[in-house]
Amino acid sequence: SDPDLVARATAAKAALGDRVFVLGHHYQRDEVIQFADVTGDSFKLAQQAAARPDAEFILFCGVHFMAESADILTTPDQKVILPDLAAGCSMADMAVLGQVETAWERFEDLGITGEIVPVTYMNSSADIKGFVGRNKGVVCTSSNAKRALDWSFEQGSKVFFLPDQHLGRNTAVLEMGFDLDDCVLYDPHKPGGGLTDDQLRNARMILWRGHCSVHGRFTLESVREVRERVPGVNVLVHPECRHEVVRAADYVGSTEYIIKALDAAEPGSSWAVGTELNLVRRMALAHPDKQIMFLDRAVCYCSTMNRIDLPHLVWALEELVAGRVPNQITVDPDTAHHARVALDQMLALP
Ligand code: 13P
Ligand code: SF4
Repeated sequence: SDPDLVARATAAKAALGDRVFVLGHHYQRDEVIQFADVTGDSFKLAQQAAARPDAEFILFCGVHFMAESADILTTPDQKVILPDLAAGCSMADMAVLGQVETAWERFEDLGITGEIVPVTYMNSSADIKGFVGRNKGVVCTSSNAKRALDWSFEQGSKVFFLPDQHLGRNTAVLEMGFDLDDCVLYDPHKPGGGLTDDQLRNARMILWRGHCSVHGRFTLESVREVRERVPGVNVLVHPECRHEVVRAADYVGSTEYIIKALDAAEPGSSWAVGTELNLVRRMALAHPDKQIMFLDRAVCYCSTMNRIDLPHLVWALEELVAGRVPNQITVDPDTAHHARVALDQMLALP
């Protein structure tokens, strides 16, 4: 990275001292992650944001839904900053509050809302988390989805899972022993979600038709190809991958899990990793004694995570030094209140 920008970021961060706390998601670029006080998966970063009430500014190097969650979990005096407002998440954008309310009305008309617990993946807007909190549900991340579903099935007999169909299906089928037929797919672009009344009445998991376009690029063919090319390879994937890919993999888990698995791997072992490329490349560089490769021949970064680059980070830090607050992320108090109920429920999962 540009040495001049590195020097400017270092100086600005030093000038701010403990007033700023920089959080970095594992998919961030190397040039950004070097300035993070803490790195983590979505769950760890949510916990960390809540654990620093003395920091005036939380500089979030990640995407918009993570910064919103940080704003909800921090004190009213703390300011959360996202260095580039265009750092969104295409999966989170696939569930809009109006669409979700339309679905819920359909369930109400059928008389089944009393049995349904709404669960939203962290990768969703604060509006969606607020909806889930209002309806006595819970937020989950890729590191606690099974615990969130276990809790939900103690509260009701059905789960309405937003917005990642793959995390919902993979957790229910591969970790909880559900049948694929227990899951139905609610498509917000089709009348009635594209489901019959009977399908909704019989389903245990109503999955929202959302997905991650980065993880959606890994296919069963990617797994077959690498197993042929690299004998003995371990296939390690994120649960946002398609069901058939996760089923064919050897290990599945959040970004934090992936890092721990690779740190603990035997020297000389081979690993094909199905997640975002910044992370896979960083792990390959950190472990030259292990063969760590990307699960597909195609190269895929998360384009929105990548929007946070060193120039944006320098700009945000220097604005703070100058006494201005750039790109503050705020959630309106009513939404924040209900979203917090659903987030606190997640943080309290056994
Ligand atoms: P993790 O919680 O596993 O870091 O995942 C976040 C994410 O956006 C993955 O695409
Ligand atoms: Fe969203 Fe996928 Fe990027 Fe994660 S990798 S932030 S789910 S688009």
